[in-house]
Formats: sequence, C-alpha cells, structure tokens
Amino acid sequence: MDKIQKLVEEHVGFLIVFTLIVISIAGLVEIVPLAFQKSTTQPIEGLKPYSALELTGRDIYIREGCYTCHSQMIRPFRAETERYGHYSVAGESVYDHPFQWGSKRNGPDLARVGGRYSDEWHRVHLTNPRDVVPESNMPAFPWLAKNLADADDVQAKMRALRVVGVPYTDQDIANAKSEVDGKSEMDALIAYLQSLGLALKNVR
Ligand code: HEC
Repeated sequence: MDKIQKLVEEHVGFLIVFTLIVISIAGLVEIVPLAFQKSTTQPIEGLKPYSALELTGRDIYIREGCYTCHSQMIRPFRAETERYGHYSVAGESVYDHPFQWGSKRNGPDLARVGGRYSDEWHRVHLTNPRDVVPESNMPAFPWLAKNLADADDVQAKMRALRVVGVPYTDQDIANAKSEVDGKSEMDALIAYLQSLGLALKNVR
C-alpha cells in the first residue's frame, strides 16, 4: 500500500491516470442505471398527452417565440403559488418534448393559464393585447387567425412522440388529421393554452 502511495505521489502521470479511473467509475455508477430506466419521472395522475390540436398549438407557441417572454414553471414560493396556483411538479411535463419551463418572465407564468380566461378573451388578446389589457407590451399576433393550422404533419409528430414514450393510441393518431383540418393557427394555439396545467390546477 505504501508503495502505491509513494508511486502516485511522486509521479504526476500516475496521479492523473488513477484520478481519471476513480472519476470514471463514479460517473458510470451514476450514468449507467439511467440508461436502463424507462423514465426517471412518472406522469402525475390524470395527466393526458396533448390532443392533436393542442400539439399543433404547442408548436405554434414555440415558433412564435412565446417562451421568450413566458415561463411555464411555478416556483414553490408563496408569492408564486398565491398568484398562479400549485407549484409545478416534474410529473406534469413528462409528455413535453421539449418542456417549456424557462425562467424568463416578461409576461406572467403560463403553467396554469388553462381555463383562466375564455377562448374569446384569448382571441382578442392574441389579436391585440391592448384591447383587453391597456398597459400590455405583449406583441400582437393577428396573422394566427388567418393562417390555417398545418394538418399534414401532425400524425408524423404524434408517431415520433410515441417513440419517446408519449402514450398515443393508434386511434388518436388516426383521428389527428381531421381534428386539425380546417382549424386556424389561432384555434390551435388557444386549445394549447387552455390545456395548460389542468391536471394539478385545483390542488392547493
Ligand atoms: C415581448 C414579450 C411577450 C411575448 C413574445 C409574448 N407575450 Fe404574452 N404577455 C406578455 C406580457 C407583458 C403580458 C402581461 C400583459 C397582458 O396580459 O397582455 C402577457 C400576457 C399573456 C397572457 C395572459 C396571462 C395571464 O395570466 O394573464 C397570455 C395567455 C399570453 N401572454 C400568451 C402569449 C402567447 C401565446 C404568446 C405567443 C404567441 C405570447 N404571449 C408572447 C409578454 C409577451
């Protein structure tokens, strides 16, 4: 034992090699089990994957950069839970690829905005936020009402999400195109907003 210690302390090359071996073993012990686990987070009870229309709306949310001003993560502090509702938990976002947590808040957190306003309120607000919130500095998104939502891609997106563990049934995927067909981008985005945070919304 003394010999090994002497070797390591007197030859920096050995010290480096032994350090790397020890760190690699410690790293593998942490990383390898994760590769064999199906998921590190369980969905919370009652969590449903996004419908075809909501999923389409979610992509519009990402495309329009809504996440640059809105987080979707309520922190476990009183000031936040009083304002937004129950703090966010990991099990709510397991079907989100990628999740929209964020921390940049020019506007309010949207993690539990589902059901807070009517669809009509969102329609007016997204077309021109100043019509309902005079002091708002949120940009207007009037073109969303004119553009048709893309119904051609949604089935492929759902199949891709199924590969990473979102439990869509064949039936969900078969009906997806007709659910989105003829809807505007505004309809899809509002459907998405109205779905946010419902599974835990009423728990306090
Ligand atoms: C430049 C920053 C900015 C961007 C980009 C932005 N917002 Fe906002 N948003 C705000 C601000 C500020 C408010 C608060 C004033 C208001 O209600 O209009 C707000 C409010 C909201 C509200 C009301 C939330 C509540 O609880 O009262 C919703 C819903 C919303 N935004 C959705 C969106 C969506 C969807 C997009 C993308 C299409 C978007 N926002 C893009 C800044 C932004």
